[in-house]
Amino acid sequence: PLKPEDLSNIPETGIDPENPGKYQGLLEDLQGNILKGHGRDYSVHLFLQWDREQSDDAKQWIKTFSQTYVKSAKQQSDDALRYRKEGISGGIFANFFLTRKGYEALGFAPFKIPKNQPFTMGMKNQQIRGFLGDPEVEKWEIGFQKEIHALILIADDDLNNLLQTVNHICQELRQIAVILHREDGFILRNKAGQIIEHFGFVDGVSQPLFIKREIVKAQVNDCGFSQWDSRAPLDIVLVKDPNGKTEDSYGSYLVYRKLEQNVKGFREDQENLARTLNIKEDLAGALVVGRFPDGTPVTKSDIPTYAVTPTNNFNYDEDVSATKCPFHAHIRKTNPRGDTGRVESSPGYDESLGIERSHRITRRGVSYGEKDPNQAPERGSGLLFLCFQADIENQFNFIQARWANPNRFVKVGVGPDPLIGQPQGSQKWPEKWGEEDTKDHCFKLWVSMKGGEYFFAPSLSFLMKLT
Ligand code: HEM
Repeated sequence: PLKPEDLSNIPETGIDPENPGKYQGLLEDLQGNILKGHGRDYSVHLFLQWDREQSDDAKQWIKTFSQTYVKSAKQQSDDALRYRKEGISGGIFANFFLTRKGYEALGFAPFKIPKNQPFTMGMKNQQIRGFLGDPEVEKWEIGFQKEIHALILIADDDLNNLLQTVNHICQELRQIAVILHREDGFILRNKAGQIIEHFGFVDGVSQPLFIKREIVKAQVNDCGFSQWDSRAPLDIVLVKDPNGKTEDSYGSYLVYRKLEQNVKGFREDQENLARTLNIKEDLAGALVVGRFPDGTPVTKSDIPTYAVTPTNNFNYDEDVSATKCPFHAHIRKTNPRGDTGRVESSPGYDESLGIERSHRITRRGVSYGEKDPNQAPERGSGLLFLCFQADIENQFNFIQARWANPNRFVKVGVGPDPLIGQPQGSQKWPEKWGEEDTKDHCFKLWVSMKGGEYFFAPSLSFLMKLT
């Protein structure tokens, strides 16, 4: 079996699923989409509640479903290779996730249930909501208010095939479970073909990387990792599956949040900010996000550069007083790239950076709602935010509650993250890029949380041998 060191250190060039060595067993038993995104254009998310009286049938169904549709990390890579070589699509991709209550409803004893604390408590828990700044459960969408036991993610590039498969799966499911809620997601792109979110900004650029192909790509595009090393050890995303049937059975915690985006409101606020500071709108947007819509980091430039692949090899060393990229900017709040070590004297820069890096999450979100990027919806569109991690408390919850929300991170007076900080508040905005003078402006919160839950992604050997 793999040793803890095999998860806390990774090979220089990451893990190569085509030549996995000692990681073969892990990749064969781990669900796909965790170490590397599945990349399909369309996805459907089904939220389920088991009927406790029929838990044996439910287990049988999960087993068959997993054998048919759920892909391992290894299989995902083999399919991708075949696609690159022969153009043959990998077809349907699926994941299967359980909540703590879902394990219980299937009859699992407490010591068999993954025990990360927020996972045990659930996202509706009052303490958790208080900590994250989330709205009352009565204000969530009705489907999310109910007791969720499982989540199935089904994805494909072929929308027709996806919808047909989902219909078929729903018919089967109705015999053994209640389908509480459904979300249909898709990948939004700009005219240059880059993946964007509804406000129009390139998304998914900065991610922790585990897999060789992705690491090599980043190294080539970005001339290495001199300013920011996006490589990450497996132990920030994987934990042992307590029910795994192999030596190297691992799983991961998933945070799921439906985040509605008021695009019209955001655009107007962005115009207001531009007028207040007497700057162009795209720069105003960059001061909110930390990157221009095309992905150019605003700490590097006051104009967009239209790079095909935006850089991720940067940090804030040349912007320590945040006159270029404000401390409140979304990407600086959610990944300070060394800021904490500069602001706090202990425990020292390198150690602080190490701690910061342990908070990283693996984002796998997709958009929902309006598909036409020329529209500016106020309601009904947004981000189905998904992220994987080894410890929810130390990763997603930490980022949202200790970094994005507080006024005083990374230091007193910074204000909340204008994209996701709850509650909204006022920030200081540079009047001229690269100069000290600032103006106050309260960028309103245009993202609202509509519901969500904490899940675990069990190993395949558990799913396929459920009894
Ligand atoms: C990066 C948008 C919610 C964490 C980004 C980027 C955009 C973006 C445009 C820059 C692209 C990139 O660097 O990959 C949004 C929108 C959200 C949202 C529109 C809500 C609707 C969240 C939430 C979290 C989060 C809830 C976690 C609490 C991050 C992180 C990065 C990021 C960690 C990468 C930062 C870096 O490494 O530089 N987001 N985001 N985002 N976001 Fe969000």
